[in-house]
Amino acid sequence: MSDRRPYIAGNWKMHKTGREAEDFLWALLPQISGEDHAEVVICAPFTALVNLIDGSRGSRVKVAAQNMHQAEAGAFTGEVSAGMLSELDVRAVVLGHSERRQYFNETDAALAEKLPAALAAGIEPIFCVGETEAEREAGQMQDVLRRQVTEGLAGVPAGQLPAIVVAYEPVWAIGTGKVATTEQAQEAIAFIRELIAGIDAAAAPQVRILYGGSVKPDNAAELLSQPDIDGALIGGASLDPGDFAALVAAGDAA
Ligand code: PGA
Repeated sequence: MSDRRPYIAGNWKMHKTGREAEDFLWALLPQISGEDHAEVVICAPFTALVNLIDGSRGSRVKVAAQNMHQAEAGAFTGEVSAGMLSELDVRAVVLGHSERRQYFNETDAALAEKLPAALAAGIEPIFCVGETEAEREAGQMQDVLRRQVTEGLAGVPAGQLPAIVVAYEPVWAIGTGKVATTEQAQEAIAFIRELIAGIDAAAAPQVRILYGGSVKPDNAAELLSQPDIDGALIGGASLDPGDFAALVAAGDAA
């Protein structure tokens, strides 16, 4: 057992306009107002952030972005900096999601700069790692995780690891309905915790590590019951307020 606070994060990806985000909150907030053991986070498109921040003030919802650039400012057309997000009251940011690694060339080297940039701006990084199906089948899961974790965390200043949330998302389980077994998820996440202990032994028991990949209301409780799984990063099921409320309830009960 641990005293790490459960963390339930919805990753909307490229779904919902600002107006749709307001409608979502209107449906969600009455369903999650009770027990507040778990932290509740919504990772939204840039264009819905202000709607979510205004609509969730005074509630338990924390608003997150899904990407940011590592530089403070500069000639980077189409990018957004940590300072721009923190000015809006964005409190967390997804970094290194497999879709960004796969489709937008996100590299471990860029992540090594993005994590400290987010921390310096007071934004909590939700740092994603995970192997593809081919890598798992080739027996490379541990090598891939070792590389992603050690290179991605390389720029984090000493003592700041506990401020980071890590998400283990096996690429083969994202959006496929193929959830990793609880044993597979626990094993990979325990391995990630060992890797973090190799960097800072005192920090490792404090870092929250989430599982992501086809998490639904009916499999969340079992995943969250595992000793090293501290929460979930949820794509598809986070788009529906009823399903997301059920996932928050699973986090509150964990
Ligand atoms: P999924 O997505 O829950 O739809 O599988 C998870 C994620 O990509 O964060």
